[in-house]
Formats: sequence, structure tokens, C-alpha cells
Amino acid sequence: MTPDTSALSAHLTRGDNLVTLQSHILAEEARHPGATGTFSWILSALSISAKMIAARIRRARLSDVLGNVGTDNVQGEQQQKLDVIANEILLRCLGSRSGVAVLASEENDEPIVIQSDADKGRPYCVLFDPLDGSSNLDVCGGVGTIFSILRHDRRAPTAQAALMQRGAEQVAAGYVLYGSSTVFVLTTGTGVRMFVLDPAVGAFMLVEDNIRIPATSKSYSVNEGHRKSFPAGYQRYLDWAQDNGYSSRYAGAMVADVHRILLKGGVFLYPPTAKAPDGKLRLMYEANPMAFVIEQAGGKAFAGKERLLDVAPTSVHQRTSVVLGSADEVDHVLAHLG
Ligand code: AHG
Ligand code: MN
Ligand code: MN
Repeated sequence: MTPDTSALSAHLTRGDNLVTLQSHILAEEARHPGATGTFSWILSALSISAKMIAARIRRARLSDVLGNVGTDNVQGEQQQKLDVIANEILLRCLGSRSGVAVLASEENDEPIVIQSDADKGRPYCVLFDPLDGSSNLDVCGGVGTIFSILRHDRRAPTAQAALMQRGAEQVAAGYVLYGSSTVFVLTTGTGVRMFVLDPAVGAFMLVEDNIRIPATSKSYSVNEGHRKSFPAGYQRYLDWAQDNGYSSRYAGAMVADVHRILLKGGVFLYPPTAKAPDGKLRLMYEANPMAFVIEQAGGKAFAGKERLLDVAPTSVHQRTSVVLGSADEVDHVLAHLG
């Protein structure tokens, strides 16, 4: 019997095409006539880093049983925590790209100044949380990588000073979720795109071209174990939400929680607590990139009552409180903060 290929032909003649992250990056570059290609190289370094980190995460339990933790494994290599491994992968992939002037990571106390040929082309700073929610690895839960790209100001006297830009100045941001599949979510300020890693092909394939977060969804995501030490306004909000039939969902990894909210709606909160009076999450490589993604998808992101992307940073590792998600749901929280 001859196979019926009419559906496939119709699909192809409509002009639909498979788009990989790599081809998307090249197409974007072609749309900007003055582009030097440095920005594209940085995105492609993030893409290869994500694949390398995903490969290590997929073998997480296996590498544990192949060697004693803290000792050499069967290959004679020292066992390392995946936070450290993910950090080294990102530093190595990004550090060798021309155009990267400064790197800042959750795992490094000080920003790293790259002495490469960053002066050629347009230099950038890349900030990242190499492995977010890493305690979830012990239980096969979702973990992620979060990144933020800023322009480098050559006039800044120090690397620290170069990074002190508000989130609104990010050139690009996004995250990789290593969940039941590996997902790369990216914004360059023109909407939000989602790519899924096809492990058979080794490429991130475009699956959503313009993600819009639902404006409303009766769901909140917060560590309620800390509820008694939240400021009163957050406690009033939780009382209101519970009186109004809201559901609670909390993975304990910001990437996993925010990704669910991006696709299904709801609100993510990490308020100030007794233990973390300024909030727990880091402004520059956790909150800001997520806020950029959420705003680009039509949602809202706040630090208390201030728009997150307007917060002026004073240090690379500073912490912030976070309320972000569906526009209406963020408004409900803000209305209770008084
Ligand atoms: P990291 O693993 O990079 O240190 O980040 C963990 C963060 C974040 O992913 C998550 O939202 C939050 O910590 C969870 O904190 P609690 O355990 O206090 O809920
Ligand atoms: Mn984190
Ligand atoms: Mn981390």
C-alpha cells in the first residue's frame, strides 16, 4: 500500500518549517544588519552549556553509584557536586567566546573579568545561576539554569560597577529547565520563545514562538512553611486566596515553579522571612531574568511594591523578595500588601 503523504505535503507547502535554537539565533542576527555576531555566539555558548549540563544531570544517580562521593570514581576523577560541574561548564563555554567581558555566577564570590578580545565587537556581561534548586537532584525533581545578559559599559571602573544595571536594561534572559524534558526559554525583548531538546537529534527545537502567560489562574506557589514569619500583607493574601478556592503548587526550585506559572498561570512568591529579611532569591541572576521573561509574556513581577526590573542593584549577590506571575494574580497579592 502506498503511504498517504498528503498531510505531510500540505504541512510543507504551507511553509511550516522546523526551527532549532541555532537557526533561530542566526535568523535573528540576519534581521539586525549591524550585528557583529558576538551576541549570537553567547547564545550558542548557553545552548551548548545547557546540553552538557543536561547530559550530566541525566546521569546524576549513575555517577554517584560509580564512585564513592568525596573520593575518586572509577575513572580516577574526583566526584564533584553538580553545582560546581554546571558552573565550570558555563565558565568554560562562555569564557572562550569573544564578546564576553564579564561573567558573574552564584558560585563565584567575585565577578570574573575575561581578558579575551572583548574589545572587538560589542561586549556583554553574562550573569547566571548554574544550577537552581539543586537540592531537588537528590529526589529526581526539576532543576534549572538561569541567565541574564547585560551590555558591558567600558567606562565602568570595575567589573562590579559594570554589572550594576537595573533588570530593565537586560539585553536577553532566560532559563533552562532540566525536567521530564530539557526546555530552553529565551527572551531578547521581543516576546518569549520555548525550545525543547530533542535528545535523538541533539538540538533544541522551537515549540512555542510567542508564549503568553494566562492573565488569571487560581494558583499560588510559595514555601508556606515560612508563613508565620512573612510580613502581615502576605499572610492576609494567603488567607484571602485560601478563602477563594486557590490551589497551592511548590516544587522548591524557582525554575520549575516559574515555568509552570508561565504556561499555566498563577503567582510565585518568595517574601521576606525571619531567616532571610531581604528575601532569599538573588536579584541579578534569579529574580531579574525571570521577571524579564514573565513581563515579556504579559505578566508582572514585583519586589514588594516596586517593579522588579526597576530595582537599582548595589551588589552582584544581593537578595530580593519576589512576587511574579499572571497579571491579575500579582495584582491580588499587591492589593493585600497595603
Ligand atoms: P539554589 O539551588 O540556586 O540555591 O536556589 C534555590 C532557591 C530557588 O530555586 C527556590 O525557589 C528556593 O531556593 C527555595 O527555597 P526554600 O527551600 O526556602 O523554599
Ligand atoms: Mn537558585
Ligand atoms: Mn544555584
